Amino acid sequence: MLEVDDKVIVALDCGEDEALRLADALAGHAGWVKVGMTLYYACGPAIVSAMRERCLKVFLDLKLHDIPHQIRGAAQAAATAGADLISVHALGGADMMAAAREGVEAAAAATGRERAHIVGITILTSHDAASVASLGITDPIPSEVRRLALLACGSGADGIVCSPQEAADMRAALGEKPLIVTPGVRPAGADIGDQSRIATPASAIQAGASMLVVGRPITQADDPTAAFDAISAQVRGAN
Ligand code: C5P
Repeated sequence: MLEVDDKVIVALDCGEDEALRLADALAGHAGWVKVGMTLYYACGPAIVSAMRERCLKVFLDLKLHDIPHQIRGAAQAAATAGADLISVHALGGADMMAAAREGVEAAAAATGRERAHIVGITILTSHDAASVASLGITDPIPSEVRRLALLACGSGADGIVCSPQEAADMRAALGEKPLIVTPGVRPAGADIGDQSRIATPASAIQAGASMLVVGRPITQADDPTAAFDAISAQVRGAN
């Protein structure tokens, strides 16, 4: 069997029963799963524990955005529940991201586990120029993404989430260390679904992504484990 893959995060955008079935199938192959708002708000912290029991690390993608006090507590609670990676909105600002970092540091000190990492969401890819302008943000989206990525990494975040098509620019802007997590990954020839700014696993890694988020190409495959292994092989080949 292949060594567990720590670069491909499987997005479990489904209900609890299916998430657990997928986790059972992927354990021993995948190192990471992503739990988003729908699954987390349905199941609570128990879903994080259930993944950890299967030796899967958890990217808890709740895209936190609130006042610093609230985010400190939320990040601490998420890390205490067992999340290994937590997303926050960079638009929440430097103080909010610093508070998230304090929260995960407090959780690590209390639990003795490795500190959870924080990634900043820059501008959601569902926005276009007009919707961003309607928020009063007048810079072009790429420069806004870059500005927020630098703010995140200068305020306690360990990295960012961005499209694979922005990964090379972000790697150049941020340097070697920050995590760059990219969704929008499709193996060559796969159904792109509702994604538009996509890249193959190998090209995303070659552009500088640290970890890839892949959902439906794995979760909706006839054999999710085989689909995962095929993507994992492409990632290993790109290193
Ligand atoms: O099924 P698919 O591979 O498209 O899933 C991608 C995952 O990444 C989903 O959980 C989606 O919410 C998330 N995501 C994304 N684009 C972003 C941020 C997150 O597709 N910009």
